[in-house]
Amino acid sequence: MTNSSNQVYPVIWHNDSVSLIDQTRLPNEYAFVEIHRSEDMARAIKTMIVRGAPAIGVAAAYGMYLGAREIKTSDRHDFLENLDKVAQLLRSTRPTAVNLFWAIGRMMKTAYETLGTVEQIKQTLFQTAQNINTEDLQTCQAIGDHGLAALPTTPQKLTILTHCNAGALATAGYGTALGVVRSAWREGRLERVFADETRPRLQGAKLTAWECVQEGIPVTVITDNMAAHCMKQGLIHAVVVGADRIAANGDTANKIGTYSVAIAATAHNIPFFVAAPLSTIDFELPDGSQIPIEERNPEEIYQIGDTILTPSNVDFYNPAFDVTPAELITAIVTENGAFAPSALVQSQVKQMA
Ligand code: MRU
Repeated sequence: MTNSSNQVYPVIWHNDSVSLIDQTRLPNEYAFVEIHRSEDMARAIKTMIVRGAPAIGVAAAYGMYLGAREIKTSDRHDFLENLDKVAQLLRSTRPTAVNLFWAIGRMMKTAYETLGTVEQIKQTLFQTAQNINTEDLQTCQAIGDHGLAALPTTPQKLTILTHCNAGALATAGYGTALGVVRSAWREGRLERVFADETRPRLQGAKLTAWECVQEGIPVTVITDNMAAHCMKQGLIHAVVVGADRIAANGDTANKIGTYSVAIAATAHNIPFFVAAPLSTIDFELPDGSQIPIEERNPEEIYQIGDTILTPSNVDFYNPAFDVTPAELITAIVTENGAFAPSALVQSQVKQMA
C-alpha cells in the first residue's frame, strides 16, 4: 500500500487479514492479495508475491499469527505443538533468506514465553508480528542514514548501481540498499540510480525501477552484463546491494549476479556496500560456504511470458542467489552503523543482533 507521500508498504495488517502488494504483477498492475490463512501466506512467499529477505520475515511473522488463529484448542501443549507445524510449513517456503527463520524463531519464542491462556498467547503473537513490521521500517530508515554517511564524499552527486530489489517492496518499507539511495536523494547527494535488470526474475527492471519512478528518482535500467562496462566508463561511483544472509565473516548471499557485480566493482576500485539489518546476519555460520542456496524452476530461464527462449532438450541450472566473499565488500551497513566485514564478529556487533 502507499500513503499520501507515495511510501510503499508491501505487507500490512488490514481488515483482520494481511494485505500483500502482489509483486509478481508490478510494474504493470498495482494489485493486492488478501491473506487470511497461514497456508496462503506460505504459498505467497514461495511464489514470490512477497519477496525480499526482510519482507519475507514480516510476512512469515503474520503467517504465524494467522496459523495461531486457526488452532482451535485451548490446551497450551496442544496449541504449541500445532503452532510448531505452522512454523515448519512457513520455514519450508524459501531456504536462503535468514530473516524468514529469524522471524519465525522470534514468534515461537514469544509463544513459549507467554504465560496465560491460549487466547492471551494469540494476542501476544499478533502484537509481536506488528512489532516486527514497525521495527523493520525504523531499521531501514537507520540503515539509509548510516549508508549515506558511508558513501564516498566525492563527487557531490553520486551515481549508485544496485542489483535486484532491496527497496521498500523487499522490506517493511523504505528499503535497505534503496534506503541508502532514498537517504542520498533526500540530502541532494544522488545523481541517479543504475538498476541491473536482474535476470531471471527481473526484480531490478520491474521493481527497483518502479520504486524509483514512484519517488521521482532518476533511474537507468541496464542488463546485468552491462555493469562492468558502465563501471569502466566511469559512470558508477558506488554499488549498494541488499543481502539475504550474511555469515559471521561477512560473506554475503544475495540475488544471483551480485558476486559478479562485486568482482567488477573491485576491479574498477569502486566501493561495494551491503546494506542489511542485523537480523540478516547468521552468526551460526562461520563463512558463506554453508549458506543454503535456493534453486528455482528452470522455466524462469527458458520462458518469458508465452515465449520459449531455448531449444528443447537442453539442461538448465537456476540458482537464485550467490555468495560474495567478504574481501570484496567495502562495508556492511546495518541499523547500528557501517562495519568492515571483519568487524562483524566483534562482540559489540554480535550483541546488538
Ligand atoms: O528472490 P528475491 O527477490 O526474494 O531476492 C531478493 C534479494 O536478493 C534482495 O536483494 C535481498 O533479499 C535483500 S532485500 C532488502
